[in-house]
Amino acid sequence: MGRLDNKVALITGAAGGQGKVEARLFAQEGAKVIATDLNNALLAGTVAEINSELGTDAVLGLEHDIASESDWVSVVANAVEAFGKIDILINNAAMPGKTREDVWDVDAEEVTRILNVNITGTLLGIKAVMPQMKTIGAGSIVNVSSAAGLVGGISGGSVAYSSTKGALRAITKEIALDVARTGVRVNTVYPGLINTPIMQAFSKEVTEAVLAKIPIGFAADPIDIAYGVLFLASDESRFVTGTDLVIDGGYTAQ
Ligand SMILES: NC(=O)c1ccc[n+]([C@@H]2O[C@H](COP(=O)([O-])OP(=O)(O)OC[C@H]3O[C@@H](n4cnc5c(N)ncnc54)[C@H](O)[C@@H]3O)[C@@H](O)[C@H]2O)c1
Repeated sequence: MGRLDNKVALITGAAGGQGKVEARLFAQEGAKVIATDLNNALLAGTVAEINSELGTDAVLGLEHDIASESDWVSVVANAVEAFGKIDILINNAAMPGKTREDVWDVDAEEVTRILNVNITGTLLGIKAVMPQMKTIGAGSIVNVSSAAGLVGGISGGSVAYSSTKGALRAITKEIALDVARTGVRVNTVYPGLINTPIMQAFSKEVTEAVLAKIPIGFAADPIDIAYGVLFLASDESRFVTGTDLVIDGGYTAQ
């Protein structure tokens, strides 16, 4: 028996990195998965790879800009048409910011774009899935934040990025309380440093400085985060809502 048998999960930013590992893990655990990403070419290869590896057609890939409300409407409609419902939304996609020597020296256009993708994109996703989750009386939404949303100095030099990750905490708590009696749960995961392509946006110095300060002594592999996301997505966490799950090798315990 899989931990997600009979569940349908929509995972954003699933072409690579952590989202890809979550898509594979969720399919292994019995879920049907709608894997979405802006990078459609990479996504197509990822979906083909996972389905062939698992000998299944459980993963469906859809091109998707999370900052576009019309994209969300069509992704949700396609997902419901393909699999009948959506039980789980993993708001995983995000864009990093440019590393800046003076963190305060922001670029207004860049800030607007990052806020639009990382914050508005998350809110639009919740808005898009909520009506049908309320109709079925169940659902789990996981917002992927970052330890950079909790403490300073690990955003890769981008206050625009870390401010979006801090905002996810408030989004989760506001919406979790609002929908608590509907059967829908909303939680946040805060990964520390993970070995994924997004790390390449960080300078070597920043990465090394952060690594040196991780109490457990190494950066996470994506699967270390995916197991936490799986717990929150599954019914094992049915009494968990509005919470913060920090998976950071002890970084923010200091
Ligand atoms: N890698 C780390 O060290 C780290 C640490 C903490 C938190 N996180 C968070 O984990 C999540 C996954 O990051 P990752 O490390 O796998 O990064 P990644 O860059 O490998 O994956 C992010 C994915 O999101 C997609 N994406 C970007 N903008 C999009 C948009 N507008 N619409 C749809 N898709 C879009 C990208 O194409 C990419 O495939 C992100 O929310 C990130 O902020 C990562």
